[in-house]
Amino acid sequence: MPRITYVNGAYVPHHEAAVHVEDRGHQFADAVYEVVAVAGGRLCHLDQHLDRLERSLGALSMAAPVSRRVLPVILARVVKLNRVTHGLVYVQISRGVAPRNHFFPADTAPSLVVSAWPVKGPSAEQVEKGVAVATRPDQRWKRPDIKAVGLLPNLLARQWAKEAGAYEAWLVNDGGFVTEGSATNAFIIAKDGALLTHPDDSSILGGVTRSNVLRLARHLGLEVVERAFTVAEALSAREAFLTGTTLMVLPVTRVDGQTVGEGRPGPVTLKLRALYQELRRK
Ligand code: PDD
Repeated sequence: MPRITYVNGAYVPHHEAAVHVEDRGHQFADAVYEVVAVAGGRLCHLDQHLDRLERSLGALSMAAPVSRRVLPVILARVVKLNRVTHGLVYVQISRGVAPRNHFFPADTAPSLVVSAWPVKGPSAEQVEKGVAVATRPDQRWKRPDIKAVGLLPNLLARQWAKEAGAYEAWLVNDGGFVTEGSATNAFIIAKDGALLTHPDDSSILGGVTRSNVLRLARHLGLEVVERAFTVAEALSAREAFLTGTTLMVLPVTRVDGQTVGEGRPGPVTLKLRALYQELRRK
């Protein structure tokens, strides 16, 4: 079965799927994106992803290439054509193709690319043992709340973390507070049992998984405090974890080589992971 990708109105074989060299996404990273999970062939939390996509487009004064009603039809078709039952759909919208110039082009149609592929998620071992994170300075621009494709600081941090033997990088701002991961949101269960995570402001990407997990945590009766925590607080925390579309809720058991809590996934993290998995199944 050939892999099919959507590019500007056409469903084409993946190896032929291409945008023009003067696409502004290619030349300027003048583009936004979304990654939506597919579970049981269905698109998970689609409305929340579409809300965030609209916010990203609005923040950059970028036009939507198709209406909010049509986009889900394209996504569902790409999922179906590729027979993805568990995996991801990637949506990218750029400001379109125009001769290279910093000014926004007038009357240029935005480009839309949609692709899908199967993804397994973290291994059983990663869930059972938890993963390591390594801290890095947060070197991103001041609007990471916009889901824009310019991800170089994220890539550099994540690659560095990998080379340091960690699964994810936790980005630390100039005040010494953890903002989030390079591609995930960051949480701890503090010494007093409260769940802490950076507030959803302009210095983090407001994760769809983050907001759903916070709702589950409140429903569970946990004290949820949306305030940034320091690396020292993470090191003395009872538990820590990451959230994101691909990994859902993933326990963190080491920060910068030091053990967090008892060094194994904590009960609150595992409970939230189970509840979130249940939510996905629904
Ligand atoms: N990453 N923070 C950052 C910087 C991210 O890039 C992501 C998502 C998240 C988690 O958001 P969500 O729960 O909505 O997936 C947090 C996507 C998956 C990516 O770039 O591949």
